[in-house]
Amino acid sequence: MAATARSVVTVERDEERAAVAAERLAGLDNVELLVGDWLDELSSRAPFELLFLDAGGLGEAPEQVGPQALDLLVRGGVLVKDDLTPGRTGPDPVRAFLLGHPGLVATELVTSSRMAVIVAARR
Ligand SMILES: C[S@@+](CC[C@H](N)C(=O)[O-])C[C@H]1O[C@@H](n2cnc3c(N)ncnc32)[C@H](O)[C@@H]1O
Repeated sequence: MAATARSVVTVERDEERAAVAAERLAGLDNVELLVGDWLDELSSRAPFELLFLDAGGLGEAPEQVGPQALDLLVRGGVLVKDDLTPGRTGPDPVRAFLLGHPGLVATELVTSSRMAVIVAARR
């Protein structure tokens, strides 16, 4: 029998949370849940057309983690980073990386009074 094509891959490294996710995703044949660190797990499933990064180091070490995230995308693929504070002043390594990277076309969208996201397409 041919393998089912998976159109969504999600990764969670916390085993308890992953177990909850597994229950909720049960029956969705197009979704693959991986348990582990996305930095280790996702490259075997790449490339992706969309990468939603809501965890896992981009905020702490964008210069180290960012290039690995970009490598997961097809050309023209889109990376979304949420949880940014609208109007934040002062240095912001995540904004500096994503908005200044020569391999990305990126913009920031304010989605609520407390939330902004960056949407970045790989050139
Ligand atoms: C902001 S929460 C988002 C949870 C869920 N996606 C949601 O929207 O409710 C971040 C999650 O990412 C997980 N996480 C953090 N770093 C990770 C990593 N390097 N690889 C995989 N999962 C990670 C955490 O355990 C946590 O459950």
